[in-house]
This record gives sequence, C-alpha cells and structure tokens, in this order.
Amino acid sequence: MIHPPESEYPPNIRFIKRDILAPLPQEWLGRFDIVHARFLITGIKDFPALIRRLSTLLKSGGYLVILEPELKCRLTTSSRSSQDEGAEHSTAKTLEEVCPGIARYNKIALQAMQSFGMDMQATSKIPSYILESGSFEEQSVKTQCKELPMSDWSEDPRMKQIGECQLSNSLAYPDTIKRMVLASSIIDEVEFEIAKKGYQDDIRSGQGRPVLPIWCIWAKRK
Ligand SMILES: C[S@@+](CC[C@H](N)C(=O)[O-])C[C@H]1O[C@@H](n2cnc3c(N)ncnc32)[C@H](O)[C@@H]1O
Repeated sequence: MIHPPESEYPPNIRFIKRDILAPLPQEWLGRFDIVHARFLITGIKDFPALIRRLSTLLKSGGYLVILEPELKCRLTTSSRSSQDEGAEHSTAKTLEEVCPGIARYNKIALQAMQSFGMDMQATSKIPSYILESGSFEEQSVKTQCKELPMSDWSEDPRMKQIGECQLSNSLAYPDTIKRMVLASSIIDEVEFEIAKKGYQDDIRSGQGRPVLPIWCIWAKRK
C-alpha cells in the first residue's frame, strides 16, 4: 500500500499492515461504524471469507462498504455522444468491432487470471456473499455501478477530468499483470508486447468510449 509518510498523518489516523484473512485482534471486533474495502478482487480469491472477516469488525448497525471493478472494461452504456447522434438506427457496435486491441487484451488477461483460479464473476457475486455471511440486514444490501472512463474521451468536464487521471492507470494496466500473463504461458513476451500496444493504442484513441465498470456495494450489520 502506498501512503504518505507517517509525519503527515492527521493525529487520529493510523495505518496498520496485516493479512486481512488472518485472525484479527480481539479488541478490534465489533468496534467500527464503517469498514471499507477497495480493489481487493484481484488479490483475494476467497471473497466470502473476506466478507465474513470484515463483518466481525463492525458494530451492530455499522456499514460494510465495498468498491470493486468488474474484471474487464467495456464500451459505455451511457447515452451516445453528439457525434453519434443521427446514427440512432445503427446497431450498437461491440468492443471487438470498435476496440479490437482492448478486446484482445481483455481476453488474454481473463484467461491468465482464470488459469490462476480467479473467479471472473466475483464482483457480481459480492451482494450474495454479503447475504450468505448471515451478518447483514437483507433489505440493507445496496449496489450501484459507475462507469469510470478509461481515458479523456468524455464531453462532460468532470468525467473528462476523471478520464485524464485514469489514463495513466489504464496505460499501465498491462504491465501490472505482465508477470502473471507470462507465467500463465498463454502468450510469450513478444506477443505480450504486441497485445499491449494494441490495447494502449485503443485506450489513447478513446474510440467507442471505453469504461471500467466500478461497483459500490454496501450493507448494514444486524
Ligand atoms: C489493487 S491493490 C488495492 C489497494 C488499495 N485498497 C486501493 O484501493 O488503492 C490490492 C491490494 O490488496 C492487498 N492484499 C491482497 N491480499 C491481501 C490480504 N490477504 N490482506 C491484506 N491485503 C491484501 C495487496 O497487498 C494490494 O495492496
């Protein structure tokens, strides 16, 4: 985890590094109003165990708030841009048609993740994992999906700014999982670099308006 130097923390903040799947200190249990977990889907295979563990930290009435991406990006489902207007009778294009480089890299990344036993549907299963833990009020489980622009393609100034920030993450993504992809033996390093370039070219062009769907799921502890 990257965080500021300790001298810059507000006095009431503490960072503690530990394995969340290992038993937690007794004195932490039932102590917290909010427990937030973010972007752990690629690191933790046993998500139901994670949810059971996090729920033990909450007070009765406290909230679990989880933020996780889907494991592949897609084209936006929001209304078409002005340049697309007038083309309302045309059939919506697929990711493969508009961004073949992104589609190809998506496929490689998913195959690699699956070869290491990761569940590609894990994000969509989080609400049921929360319910199955038995610790949360059923009617309190809520979900919301937001589209994170992969680059600065949006005409909306706020979304454009978010896309500008996200661009460097999007471009860096292939290299962050390069070791895993090569270890899966799906492709060799030369093929990896070709696939990476195709993906990055599509990201930079913004063609088709690619987004990463991000889910926020929250629930109230019984
Ligand atoms: C994609 S990063 C997200 C980091 C941060 N939560 C964020 O949103 O920026 C995934 C993080 O999960 C951490 N992680 C994976 N397994 C873990 C475990 N069992 N206990 C605690 N952290 C874990 C990794 O060390 C890594 O920092």
